[in-house]
Amino acid sequence: MMMTDVEEVYNIERRSHSAPWSKLTFQRELLGNHHNLCLVAQVGERIVGFICLYYVLDEAHITNIAVDLPYQNRGIATRLMLSAIEAVMQRGIRNLTLEVRKSNAKAQHLYIKFGFRMKGLRKGYYTDNYEDALIFWTGDITSDYYKKLFGEIRRDLEGRSA
Ligand SMILES: CC(C)(COP(=O)(O)OP(=O)(O)OC[C@H]1O[C@@H](n2cnc3c(N)ncnc32)[C@H](O)[C@@H]1OP(=O)(O)O)[C@@H](O)C(=O)NCCC(=O)NCCS
Repeated sequence: MMMTDVEEVYNIERRSHSAPWSKLTFQRELLGNHHNLCLVAQVGERIVGFICLYYVLDEAHITNIAVDLPYQNRGIATRLMLSAIEAVMQRGIRNLTLEVRKSNAKAQHLYIKFGFRMKGLRKGYYTDNYEDALIFWTGDITSDYYKKLFGEIRRDLEGRSA
């Protein structure tokens, strides 16, 4: 993601979340301290989705992901997750974490596919409606088990778009 992408990314963000990040938040991510990563997905010239994460020591925290509604269910979030996880693997990250709304079954499905499991709950975490956040973690993403899972997800996606 580049500074010039923020306008388009923000438009997807506000259509996707009930408590959207501001443009400034995205700009700060991009100006960040080299411990942030934001990627966009494009169809032609158009930005249709994005993912943001930060990493500390051997952990990465996925902080935001969204795909614009007309482009959902085509594997774009899966592709974004594959690219982001591959990038953090190369930095020696071992574990991934994120928070997800209790009601967000679709996002949970995506995360569970990527080996995340619920390890905790933050009661009333979301300030817009006081919904609970489920705290998801992966196991060790450098393990053979995870590498196999990662390869299977990639092959499945390639099979679908072939
Ligand atoms: C969550 C989100 C990023 C997924 O994007 P996407 O590009 O549609 O995702 P993909 O196409 O890669 O994968 C969708 C998967 O969800 C499944 N799915 C679709 N609707 C579902 C539902 N209602 N419940 C559970 N799973 C569902 C699909 O079958 C597919 O699974 P598969 O890969 O096993 O076949 C997108 O829905 C989104 O932007 N939502 C709004 C923002 C959001 O909630 N972000 C997450 C915050 S934690």
